[in-house]
Amino acid sequence: MFPTGFVWGAATSAYQIEGALTADGRGRSIWDTFCSQDGRIVGGDNAETAIDHYNRYRDDVKLMADLGLTAYRFSVSWPRIQPDGSGAYNAKGLDFYKRLVDELLSYGIDPWLTLYHWDLPQALEEAGGWPSRDTSKRFADFAATVHAELGDRVRHWSTVNEPWCSAFLGYASGEHAPGRREPAAALRAAHHLNLAHGLAVQAMRAQNADSQIGGCVNVYPVTPATGSEADQDAARRIDGLQNRFFLDALLKGAYPEDVLADLSHLSDMEFIQDGDLATIAAPLDMLLINYYSRFTVSGAPGGAASAAAAPTDSGSPWIGSEHVGFVNGGRPVTSMGWEVDGSGLYEMLRRIADEYPRVPLYISENGAAYDDLIGEDGTVHDPERVSYIDAHLRICHSAIESGIPLQGYFAWSLMDNFEWAWGYGKRFGLVYVDYETQARTMKSSALWYADTIRHGGLLSRAQ
Ligand code: FCB
Repeated sequence: MFPTGFVWGAATSAYQIEGALTADGRGRSIWDTFCSQDGRIVGGDNAETAIDHYNRYRDDVKLMADLGLTAYRFSVSWPRIQPDGSGAYNAKGLDFYKRLVDELLSYGIDPWLTLYHWDLPQALEEAGGWPSRDTSKRFADFAATVHAELGDRVRHWSTVNEPWCSAFLGYASGEHAPGRREPAAALRAAHHLNLAHGLAVQAMRAQNADSQIGGCVNVYPVTPATGSEADQDAARRIDGLQNRFFLDALLKGAYPEDVLADLSHLSDMEFIQDGDLATIAAPLDMLLINYYSRFTVSGAPGGAASAAAAPTDSGSPWIGSEHVGFVNGGRPVTSMGWEVDGSGLYEMLRRIADEYPRVPLYISENGAAYDDLIGEDGTVHDPERVSYIDAHLRICHSAIESGIPLQGYFAWSLMDNFEWAWGYGKRFGLVYVDYETQARTMKSSALWYADTIRHGGLLSRAQ
């Protein structure tokens, strides 16, 4: 049984579900541009319709109510609300999110709003994108406006979803929008995403002391393939860039010295200005953690890049550590090729609770893609997803028992959706979506999750 008040949620993001990319005055985002370029998205997919949530949000909220969710984590689309990322705001865009939030509240579902889940207005990319410091300031203005408009009905706010991905997949490997392969620019982007977070926290705090504000990071435990010095150094590097560069900045107000040293050939770091780290480390009410898998790494040449494999032609996101290989750790994998390892979730929660200032923790994303099929009887049987979520929830439970301040769990994702560079081929949903008809069908994992929520805990071990 989980403690009373434990948050039972599911998560989505705007670009992956909304569609309606030209409706009601929405501006262009970097993902619109990226999807229109050849070879960027598997199968040439795009998000023009996605799962049509912009038009079907009422039905989708009803599904959440049927599931018994106590909270729903979604993101707002910056170009829908502020088409060019600076200047005029679009009332119709804001209205969409007001209607969505009111619908959630009418069912007693707590809205958890993420301000940035990767869909930067294209105009800001043309002005330099995240490598430009000005983008952080634009983001703080945007955050302040959304908070002023929705702060009366949304209590839980988070800033930037997974800054690692925006910086390093967007600007180093190029497997995400805007698709640039410029390691030095990616480093600047990482800092400016952190700064954007800090400036947004400040701007929102200045308006309303009641809001619960957090940052959101994606963490992976990193294991060296062997005890060799080279493998241990590889693990230190990947852990540094993936985990500590963001956790240390947000929670301790410092970048790890060893990571800065690994990157010193790329930059003199002049873009880190006095006072930035204090801004970035503004106190938080909560930390949102996205967890999927573990990395096993090798420093010897020739390691395969399995754990981090990109779907399309791309460079390495691991700036300064491009030589590191990602090796198979011998665990079962999901259809993303990601190894299933619940113990890694415990490891990261323990570490965050012990090594950083205490702050309430939430799992804001966790889940798995499998090749789901709809049967002739119209049901979708996904025992592997049930067992994935069951195993990770058991880990959450033991974390709470051992004193870690974990207060909620959001499954990724509520519904199948546009999985970025992988297009529609990877299904993460609790709810199956037929992309032709847009029909939604609860998978057996959704029915199981609903039972779990109703019960307030896990029934018997899922098979
Ligand atoms: C996370 C993203 C989310 C989704 C899942 C599978 O990195 O935040 O949008 O793509 O992975």
